[in-house]
Amino acid sequence: MAYFPRKYWDSGADKWDETVTNTSFPHYFYYYEADLYISDLLENSRLSLELGAGTCGSTINHASPDKKIVAIDYSPRMLKLGKGRVQNAGLMSHVDLVVADQCHLPFRDDCFDSVFSRGVALSYDWASTS
Ligand SMILES: C[S@@+](CC[C@H](N)C(=O)[O-])C[C@H]1O[C@@H](n2cnc3c(N)ncnc32)[C@H](O)[C@@H]1O
Repeated sequence: MAYFPRKYWDSGADKWDETVTNTSFPHYFYYYEADLYISDLLENSRLSLELGAGTCGSTINHASPDKKIVAIDYSPRMLKLGKGRVQNAGLMSHVDLVVADQCHLPFRDDCFDSVFSRGVALSYDWASTS
């Protein structure tokens, strides 16, 4: 499932936020639009799993006291930068960050209300478990 190895994301982590917020980035509008759909998906979810959270650009748009997110990524560097963003947004109580490969998830079955991913695992698609 992984099209780019972890080291690709680790080495490019420092540039990711600059890339994804640049309106010239070819997928800029996809990322913007995906967050709108994800908001709808999470409407009735209290605990969600985010795959490939990266620097948590989507995580901080969706986490809140009644919408907790477990955000996983297999790049420690991406997730470290993401942790800083989650902290700056004051959302650390509502987000758990886990370094993990989405192909080998370290969770029990059926413990999340929803699963989402912006620009990664579900490859420009998303799904709800409820
Ligand atoms: C295109 S970036 C998207 C990051 C973030 N979702 C966003 O919207 O800004 C892809 C992310 O998926 C992660 N990723 C790719 N394959 C993965 C896998 N098999 N397991 C966990 N994370 C993965 C990468 O490390 C990277 O952070």
